Amino acid sequence: MASIHIGANPGDIAETILLPGDPMRAKFVAENLLDDAVCFNKVRGMLGYTGYYNGKRVSIMGSGMGMGSVGIYVNELVNDFGVKQLIRVGTCGAIREEIKVGQVILAMSASGDADANMLYFEGMHYAATADYDLLVQADEAAKRLNIETLKGTIFSTNTFYDASENRWDKWEKHGVLGVEMESQILFTLAKRLNVKALAILTVSDNVKTGEASDSQEREQKYMDMMRIGFELG
Ligand code: HPA
Repeated sequence: MASIHIGANPGDIAETILLPGDPMRAKFVAENLLDDAVCFNKVRGMLGYTGYYNGKRVSIMGSGMGMGSVGIYVNELVNDFGVKQLIRVGTCGAIREEIKVGQVILAMSASGDADANMLYFEGMHYAATADYDLLVQADEAAKRLNIETLKGTIFSTNTFYDASENRWDKWEKHGVLGVEMESQILFTLAKRLNVKALAILTVSDNVKTGEASDSQEREQKYMDMMRIGFELG
């Protein structure tokens, strides 16, 4: 039976799923990297596909932007469709000068401002952490594919536009590599639901220097992170 936000049938979704924020990216990747891709969801335009990568059955679906959206899909993918490994594949803004646009980051952990975590943990702070096995697998896959990666901690925010000055300084001081909008809730829910999660991110812009990627570079680099993601599981 379909879930509230995913119009698929049981068995339509593979145990390993890649989650880009953008559903059109899910479509593009499914059409270009997967064999025999079949669309399993169109509800709210959040396109999802299942196909084969080097003979292995995998899925890819948009997650939407922000932790409210991701939280809905993660809950339903795990509880209603039996998904076991969720890999975010998305972009982030680097908050350190030395990090270049196009760099791939394997996120070990995510701080953040998820309202859901603040409420659930009653003001205390949960250390949202990626699954270690997936992290190691991704590191090894990247080396095999000759893709350089940074490993470290990131920040997930629900606020893309924010008027405060020097917003990221204290996070930079504490070793954070970049900012995005999804991983903190993904990692938290994965632990709660007893499944595995990882985030593989490509730097789309540098918040400090103002550097941003051009579209051709973006296309190539985004495919690099998808290839790492499809190697996992
Ligand atoms: N902020 C939040 N999310 C992002 C950014 C950013 O600067 N760049 C890419 N994703």
